[in-house]
Amino acid sequence: MHNNRINYSQCWEDARVLLEGLGAAKQGPALSVTSGGDNTLALLLGGATRVVSIDINPAQNYLLELKYAAASALEHPEYLAFLGVTSSNRRLELYNSVRPHLPVTSAEWWSHRLPLIENGAIHCGRFELFNRRFRRHVLPFIHSQRTIREFLAQTPLEAQQSFYHTQWDSWRWRFLFRVVCSRIVLERFARQPGIFSQTKKEKIGELYLRRAEDHFLRIPLADNHFMHYLLTGSYDAQMPEYFSGEGHAYLRTRGKKGLSVVNADIQTYLSGTPDNTFSAYNLSDIFEPLSPSESAHLWREIVRSAKSGARVVVWSNLVDRTSPKDLRACVYEDDLSAVLRAKDRVFFYEGVHVYTICK
Ligand SMILES: C[S@@+](CC[C@H](N)C(=O)[O-])C[C@H]1O[C@@H](n2cnc3c(N)ncnc32)[C@H](O)[C@@H]1O
Repeated sequence: MHNNRINYSQCWEDARVLLEGLGAAKQGPALSVTSGGDNTLALLLGGATRVVSIDINPAQNYLLELKYAAASALEHPEYLAFLGVTSSNRRLELYNSVRPHLPVTSAEWWSHRLPLIENGAIHCGRFELFNRRFRRHVLPFIHSQRTIREFLAQTPLEAQQSFYHTQWDSWRWRFLFRVVCSRIVLERFARQPGIFSQTKKEKIGELYLRRAEDHFLRIPLADNHFMHYLLTGSYDAQMPEYFSGEGHAYLRTRGKKGLSVVNADIQTYLSGTPDNTFSAYNLSDIFEPLSPSESAHLWREIVRSAKSGARVVVWSNLVDRTSPKDLRACVYEDDLSAVLRAKDRVFFYEGVHVYTICK
């Protein structure tokens, strides 16, 4: 899984869902899976006093450090330009200002990969590159740029639903989407190695097509930066919070106080963590490649390392890894989990799950 390249240059878990799921627990010490770094930044913006951001793949942590260093070093317009939100041919020049704000290992890593900086670091993940190929080589055979723009601009939701049925849901859309989201294609080109090792689900393309349809009929697109990015390659007016003017100003003035970045397997890290350490856990969909026994072990370590009242937010995609039944301290928040699943602005997950740890 750790291949020293960036698999995700953005987080594909909805930060709003994460923060709402964590509730008041998000103010306390948090353990956050880094991935694209966005949700670790969201936790800091949400008021977390201390965040340990962990990833088994150091490249993901270097990306988080680059995003933080860019916020510290650059004014807002340059920050957006440098990371790839807006277009720019000055990124390598801006990197000279960012570099002194990076830890040494991170600076070395990026300095050997300047083309990733030049193209805008938020676009460099394996998943985002796959998405770009889909937009460039497949989507034009399905819908014109105009149709895509019109679909994304439909309001209210009833207009979006009607557009979906009358203009979007063509046989080409269904056929090509199924192919692009088939297991063989995703495994080979899009997701991190090993991500499908625990699922026996078949017809994954069909499953994702159903999830996409359900999403288009329930979740407004107009303010959904995830769908804007997937269909156009840019966020348009809507952006993750850390890119807003306020988000940038906050990260800049706050500095990195309270943020620790850890390159490790979460199981190994937690086994060395004292009891009652964390109040909040952002676990992305970390259980997806774990076997049932590895998952059960991780759940026990989460409970042991959690303060009483801690919250855990975790997404599931193709594998069900709920907490072991005998682990009574893990209380599943049914209603909140269902509410958040209904709001999630990312279509590809099966569910979002919130637990309170009651010791
Ligand atoms: C869980 S992955 C999933 C991302 C995306 N949501 C998806 O489904 O394709 C997010 C991050 O977790 C990291 N990761 C996976 N397993 C890990 C582990 N056991 N310990 C620490 N980080 C891990 C990966 O390197 C990746 O950067």
